[in-house]
Parts: sequence; C-alpha cells; structure tokens
Amino acid sequence: MRVGIGYDSHSFDQDRPMVLGGVAIPDSPGLEGHSDGDAVIHAVIDAILGAASLGSIGTRFPDTDPAYAGADSLLLLEHSVRLLETENYQVVNVDVTVIAQSPLIAPYAERMAERLAEKLHVPASGVSVKGKTNEGLGWIGRGEGLATMAVVLIDQMPDIDAFLASIRSGGG
Ligand code: CDP
Ligand code: ZN
Repeated sequence: MRVGIGYDSHSFDQDRPMVLGGVAIPDSPGLEGHSDGDAVIHAVIDAILGAASLGSIGTRFPDTDPAYAGADSLLLLEHSVRLLETENYQVVNVDVTVIAQSPLIAPYAERMAERLAEKLHVPASGVSVKGKTNEGLGWIGRGEGLATMAVVLIDQMPDIDAFLASIRSGGG
C-alpha cells in the first residue's frame, strides 16, 4: 500500500461557473484557471499521481498545452486513474478537505463523493469530502479564493496473469 498527498488553490472568478468535485454549485463565483478550475479534482489527481510516483498534474497535463484549455477536470481524473491502473494499483480511499469561507461544502459533499467515487472505481464510502473555513484569516479568510487538500491510499492489485501462470506451471 502507498499513500499520496495533493494540494491546490484557485482565486475566485465572478465570471465563471463554480464546479467543485465535479458538482455545480449555483450562487457561488467560479474558480480561475486554465482548465475548469476544479480544485477538489486537481488535489485528488495530485494525490493519486503522488501515491504511485507518477509525477504531478502539471507534468501530466501541462497548462501550456492547448489540449487542456477549459478541460473538464473529470476527464483528467479518468486519465489519472487509468495511469494508476496501468501500473497495477487501485484506489482504496480518498479524503478531501476544502478550505473556504464560502461556499458551504456540506450540502454538496455527498454528491461530490459519489461523483469522485465513480471515476475512482471505489464505492461511495471510499470517498470523503468536507469543508472548513479559514476562520477569516489571510487570503482565504478574505474570500479571495479557496484551497483544497487530499490524501489517497492505493493498493497493489493482485497480478492475475502471474497467478494463472504459476498455477499452470504447477507452482501455485
Ligand atoms: O468550528 P470550526 O472552526 O472547527 O470549523 P468551521 O470552519 O467554522 O466549519 C464548521 C463546519 O461548517 C465544518 O465542519 C463543515 O461541516 C462546515 N463547512 C462547510 O461545509 N463548508 C465550508 N466552506 C466551511 C465549513
Ligand atoms: Zn487547480
């Protein structure tokens, strides 16, 4: 088993819609960014890539590449999970904290967890999302933007091919 950690932060942008954890949050300014600015997904991606030593969101999906302009972060997450599974790992669980004066995360947390779980190939109980204010302190406290943190546990999948080969050779 291996653990990974991810962090992200984005400024608010009044002119963009808010999408966090793949869920639209009405009545909130959106997040600035080259992609859709989904800071929850970005932190989760970095945690996944970090757990498997597969680099970072910046090296895998460079924001200088026009292919990722306005990209749906859920697609980047799907791609990251594919990379992970290619390395014979699966996600065990993910825990996310959003640090924001607003919006309130609690009303959307369950839907975010369901959305993420689907892409991570884990049951919904394998994903936790929660919010905290920054007690009014600093740039987050002034409502200039928000930050996210994520940790993930991954596990090596059984090597089915090797197992079958060992049975066939009588070594099983
Ligand atoms: O009480 P304490 O200072 O530890 O926490 P808080 O930052 O005041 O947040 C209290 C509770 O509000 C959190 O535990 C969350 O359930 C909720 N919350 C949220 O859902 N979304 C936020 N952006 C901030 C807080
Ligand atoms: Zn981001």
